Amino acid sequence: MKTKSKILIVDDEPNIRRILQMAFEKSGFEASIAEDARVALGQLETFRPDVIVSDVTMPGLTGYELLREVKERTPETPFILMTAFGTIPQAVESIRNGAFEYVTKPFDLDHMKRVVNAALDQDAEPKRAVRKGKSAGAAMGGAPFLAESPAMKEVLELVTQVADSKATVMIGGESGVGKEVVAKALHTLSSRSKKPFVAVSCAALPETLLESELFGYEKGAFTGANGSKVGRFEAADSGTLFLDEIGEIPHTVQVKLLRVLQEREIERLGSNKPTRVDVRVVTATHRDLMAAVDAGNFRLDLLYRLQVVEILIPPLRERHEDIVPLSNMFLAKYAEENGRQPLVIGPDAQKAMFAYPWPGNVRELENTMERATVLAAAGQEELTPGLLPQMIRKAAA
Ligand SMILES: Nc1ncnc2c1ncn2[C@@H]1O[C@H](COP(=O)(O)OP(=O)(O)OP(=O)(O)O)[C@@H](O)[C@H]1O
Ligand SMILES: [Mg+2]
Repeated sequence: MKTKSKILIVDDEPNIRRILQMAFEKSGFEASIAEDARVALGQLETFRPDVIVSDVTMPGLTGYELLREVKERTPETPFILMTAFGTIPQAVESIRNGAFEYVTKPFDLDHMKRVVNAALDQDAEPKRAVRKGKSAGAAMGGAPFLAESPAMKEVLELVTQVADSKATVMIGGESGVGKEVVAKALHTLSSRSKKPFVAVSCAALPETLLESELFGYEKGAFTGANGSKVGRFEAADSGTLFLDEIGEIPHTVQVKLLRVLQEREIERLGSNKPTRVDVRVVTATHRDLMAAVDAGNFRLDLLYRLQVVEILIPPLRERHEDIVPLSNMFLAKYAEENGRQPLVIGPDAQKAMFAYPWPGNVRELENTMERATVLAAAGQEELTPGLLPQMIRKAAA
């Protein structure tokens, strides 16, 4: 028989302790209570909880300080914080510091139970080997990720560091800077690399389609639903879900997405049976989402939740060291496609390429190199300014 899971409930409010204790005992847990952090720390050794739920504001040590202590002593014990509304930034900070989840008060008991069960589930997963010191370039396999400038080396370092964590990552940067390349790198460098990488362009789909695309549906969920459909969340199970253009998702989808991130389960449209999913969510946007929050178009709690880790990719014009290596890579690629020798960048062309601001960033650079390769005469070896679009040529003048 399965032994009971042990939950430790920490709160200075007797009523909350009592309600939670009763609720979890009714669900088959062994529940212990503590009125402050000190008592809770004492119970770490005597009671040995499988999961801890703690209030933030208590006399003595706060819930955050208790979290820090617990992560020192028994780092594997999942820790859930109960916070008052309005302290979300700190709560998200606590997730960075190792909390499994935070739940805002007043909470719904069913929600609390789902979060606790999710924490125990994740604890039961075989511990993933953290791969350290692996060379990113080598691990990227088919998709090369080039980083010569100090700024991009920093990005690559951060990508390598956070690849194996479950934390959500939000990638920002202008159009064509390589947001999708970074999202794929996060997947390839993680222990999820053999599982699916599923990309959804949120801007490409109207509201109702986006919902069914993400969450799936059951037969008869709406007119025309003649069969059932697996959503992208389920398709990405054990892997990575990349939500591109996240700034474009409508309010209803924002609410549902927040729920999935908190409870790690989805419901297909037309079904009320939740399905557990283990998905690492990576998002990208070229927009300033804080401004969207201020304008009332994006939920602040969702934004915090999505950008536990934030990776900003600088525009190409701010990292000149990448221009020549990227160009050479693209010239080699298109030379092979066109069955010729790669062009060699001449000094005047290089001058123009350094002066030009590249509003379309790496994608524009790639297109420019393809164009030059196609336009070059059969025996031409050098990439001259004449092979560049007039706008780029003019930049050096
Ligand atoms: N560091 C890099 N190394 C190699 N190739 C790159 C790099 N950055 C970008 N690219 C290439 O440039 C092109 C554009 O990159 P990507 O699609 O990732 O940009 P994006 O930021 O997602 O653009 P958008 O905002 O338009 O969606 C792709 O063909 C990609 O392979
Ligand atoms: Mg993209």
